[in-house]
This record gives sequence, C-alpha cells and structure tokens, in this order.
Amino acid sequence: MRRVFHEGTTIEDLKAYMGPFAERLGYKFNTETEFVDEVLESELQVLDRDGDVYCPCRVRTGDPKEDLKIVCPCIPFFRDEFAAMRKCWCGLFIRQDVEDGAELIGVIEQPEPGTAVAVPVCLLADLPSGTARHVKVGKNDIAVVRVGDEVYALSNVCRHAFAPLAEGFVDGHIIACPWHGWRYDVRDGTTDHPNADVRTFPATVRDGEVLVTVPLGRAR
Ligand code: SF4
Ligand code: FES
Repeated sequence: MRRVFHEGTTIEDLKAYMGPFAERLGYKFNTETEFVDEVLESELQVLDRDGDVYCPCRVRTGDPKEDLKIVCPCIPFFRDEFAAMRKCWCGLFIRQDVEDGAELIGVIEQPEPGTAVAVPVCLLADLPSGTARHVKVGKNDIAVVRVGDEVYALSNVCRHAFAPLAEGFVDGHIIACPWHGWRYDVRDGTTDHPNADVRTFPATVRDGEVLVTVPLGRAR
C-alpha cells in the first residue's frame, strides 16, 4: 500500500491511498477541500523531509516505534479520542456522519476525561457471522464477535495464559480460546473457570458500522 510514496507523490495519490482506508474506519476527508489540500501539502513536505507522511500537527518523539503511531492516517491508534472529537486531531478526517467539517477545522479539542464513547471499529460487512476480529481501542484490546446480526465485544485476552481470543473459534455465542480451548460466552464474558470471566463492552451496529463503547482513555 505504501507504493504511492515514490518520488513525485501527489496530493491525489495521498487521497487515493488514504480515502478507502479511512472509510473502513468510519471516517471521510473533511468536506472543506481547500483545507484538506493544505494538510496534504504539508504531509508531502514532511514526506520529502522525513521519509514518511507523519502527522503535520503532531511532534515526533524520535522513537521510530512511537512515531509510527502518527503516520497518517493515524486513526487506528486513537480511535477513542477521535470518536469523541468526531475528527482526527488535524481535522483532515471527520466522522462519516459529520455533514460540515468547517466548524471542526483547527480545533484541537481535548475530550472530557471519565466519559465513555462509542467508537467505530469496523464495517459490519467486514465481520462475517461466526467470526471475530481483534481491535485496539485506546488502551483496550478487544475481540469483536458477530453472531448472526448481533455483535458483541469482550476482552481479547484469555484469562488462562493470555492468548488472543479473537483468533479463537466462534461456536454460537461461545468463543473458544485458540490455545487451550477455554470457552467464553460473548454475551457476558463468562466462562466455566472460576474467577476467569473477561470484561465485556457494549457493542452495536449503526449504518453498517460496528461501534464499541469504551471509557475514554489516553492511548499514548
Ligand atoms: S491527526 Fe489526522 S492528519 Fe494527523 S496523522 Fe492523524 S489522521 Fe493524519
Ligand atoms: S490461553 Fe486461553 S485457554 Fe489457555
């Protein structure tokens, strides 16, 4: 996917690369097209100077691993904050259901601490019934599971030896751990093993998007 980042990469290249990716995460380009072009122009300058499209509104730490979190679009790393703001920090991307991005431009809001937020995590179409997928939302590792038309969200971390539950097997409302088969009810996180239930999160579907509600917390 990073093939567009050759010498001579243009704003249109960036749009073609980033647009579909953001769409799958519940975002679209800001409706203010001049603003979008300005931000992307800044990203092209950063690309020329630093070798990647680092966020123009964030300061790099110098730690390559940390700095990967602010390569545009950085939406997966800051899903909860962006869901609360209804935009990314720069305002380059806004939530699908925001009609006019103008009022969001340039506003670097800080979400209220201690609040919960419904965060888009994937498209329902990307989550076939009987499957699970791992999503990272803020500090939470979550397994999102679809059973028929219902979706569920529970901790992705098995309480036995910390296997990723989303890699397990979905059988009705049960997800079985991929490593040693502990079984969890996706509706309430319960298991037969004592004191080993896992946390669940409210999950819903709206306009074809799967949303998981989490407490708002800093991912960085
Ligand atoms: S805040 Fe917006 S512009 Fe900046 S890297 Fe993230 S998605 Fe891109
Ligand atoms: S790690 Fe899940 S059952 Fe062992």
